[in-house]
Formats: sequence, structure tokens, C-alpha cells
Amino acid sequence: MTRATARAHPNIALVKYWGKRDAALNLPATGSMSMTLDVFPTTTTVTVEPGRDRDELVLGGVVQQGVPRERVERFLDLVRTASGSSARARVETENTVPSAAGLASSASGFAALAGAAAAAYGLDLDERALSRLARQGSGSASRSIISGFAVWHAGDDDASSFAEAVPAPELAMVVAMVDRREKSVSSREAMRRTVDTSPFYPAWITSTARSLEDALAAAAAGDVERLGGITETNALRMHALIQSCDPPIRYLSPVSVEIFDRVVALRAEGVAAFATADAGPNVVVICRPADAATVAAAIDDLADTVTSLPGPGMQVLDRVPA
Ligand code: DP6
Repeated sequence: MTRATARAHPNIALVKYWGKRDAALNLPATGSMSMTLDVFPTTTTVTVEPGRDRDELVLGGVVQQGVPRERVERFLDLVRTASGSSARARVETENTVPSAAGLASSASGFAALAGAAAAAYGLDLDERALSRLARQGSGSASRSIISGFAVWHAGDDDASSFAEAVPAPELAMVVAMVDRREKSVSSREAMRRTVDTSPFYPAWITSTARSLEDALAAAAAGDVERLGGITETNALRMHALIQSCDPPIRYLSPVSVEIFDRVVALRAEGVAAFATADAGPNVVVICRPADAATVAAAIDDLADTVTSLPGPGMQVLDRVPA
């Protein structure tokens, strides 16, 4: 019996991943860029138990069946293939962010699972290999392996589609918890529907590839205003794209939109603040760390807020060998 525990944090994309080029390998249509948070970690323990007949997933103390368990099993199959083991495992995971509410629990979840499973099955993987592995669990998880700011290269194949660190100015993210409930359409389903039905999808791909280049240049130059502007535009383009599906999907709620408006008003007062949102109603405001309290005060009548600085990459906390 071998056991390993790993921890990873969610990340929020400044330039979003939305759409797959290859669903089997989980290769994205475009590259993306993110900041890993220092709040809401996921901690996962993988115990390899040779006598067991199927993998078990325990999430927050509750045994999971159906799709979540099967997704973990398929992921562990990748690790088993790479390590030459056929042993099944028990996976125990604790999230500190509400699951499936558009706050990237699958990113921290599969990054922590990749680290814990690789260590428990005895794979010695470098950061790039861990990022590629995490990507196959959930695309955005490739970026939660990395500390601080990361670019996930779209790549041409499995080997070239991984995340790595990029230079960026010191930023804070003020997370506005608009709604903690599970979203009604998963991002995986919504992405598929976008690719299949949105007439705007080709334009999204070309504009996002350009936005990524611009964002990386702005980040390297330490240009917060430019980077923030690209972030907000890219987020609103993604939500417009998602709304253009058939049948349509809308993740932003009236409160989300009001927060976007407040952020525009903050900018008019001279505060460099920019809003983004993933596949859910929660809004994240990007600003300089010195402005985070001002930003939080401007929106805290609308939603609870949590402020984050750039956080650590995936860490293996413990490994107990046989
Ligand atoms: C809106 O990484 O959850 O958060 O690869 O299908 O698991 P799968 O999708 P996932 O999608 C994240 C979408 C997003 C944007 C982003 O994080 O870049």
C-alpha cells in the first residue's frame, strides 16, 4: 500500500480556455493564461490498494458514484498505464471552494489528484509532465500545477500542450461569491455546445489567440492597465460566445453584471480594476494589491468577497511508501 497527499489551488484565467481541438487528449483550441490563487486549496490523498476491485472517490467525506467517480477512474487509468500498475485506489479529496460553482474546483481538483496519484503510483514527473497529466483530467488543471502566472500552450499534440510560468506584475484578485450553488450546465457540456452550435466560435479562436499574445506582452512589461483591459474584454467575449449557443446558456446573473458595472465605475474614479468571470455567476476583480481593499469595499454590498494574491503551484505534502 502506498499513499500520497497533494495540495493545489484554483486558478483564474486572464485569457480563457473555451473549446477543445481534441476531446480525447483534452487539447484546447487556443492557449490561455492564468493566475493561481492562494485561497481555496484542494487537498487530495491517493491510497493505492492492490486488493480493491474498483477505484473509490470520497469528496468531502461523501462517497461519490456516477460521473465524478468515473472521471477519476479514467484519470487513474492514465497513471496506471504510465506506471505499469493495475492496482486500484481510494481517492479522498477536500475542497475549500464550493464545487462546480464556476470557481475552478476542477482545476485545483485535478492538479491535486495528478500530484497525489503520480506520487502514490511511483511516477517521477517533472512540472511539465505533471501539467500534461493534469490537463487530461481537466484542461484548466494544467495551469494549477504552476505557481503564480502561467501560460498553457495550445500545442500540437500531447507533448507540447502544457502550462509553464510567465513573468507578470504583482496583482490581486478579489473574488466575489455571487452564488455558491452548483451551475446548471457544466463547463464541459457548455464548451461542447459552443463548438457545435455557435456561429461566433471561429472568431473567438482567432481573437483569443491574439489576446493571449497581447496579454503575455503586457504582463512581461508589467502593464497592469493593458493586461486588465485584455482580461475584461476576453471574459465578456467568452460570455457573449456562450450566450450564442443553441440552446443558449447564460452564466452571468444580474448581480454579476452589476459587479462588472461597478468595476467600470471604479475605473472612472481612477482605480485600475478589471472584471472577469468563469463558467458561473461569480466575478473576480483584478487589481493592484494596494487597491484590493478599495475594490472589495465597492462591491461588498452585492456579494461576499475573498482577496487572493498569486499562490503556490501543486505541492506533494506527504508520501508513505509500502
Ligand atoms: C471558463 O478546465 O473545467 O474556467 O477541460 O472540460 O475540464 P475541461 O474544462 P475546464 O474549463 C475551464 C473553463 C473556464 C476558463 C478557463 O479556466 O480558462
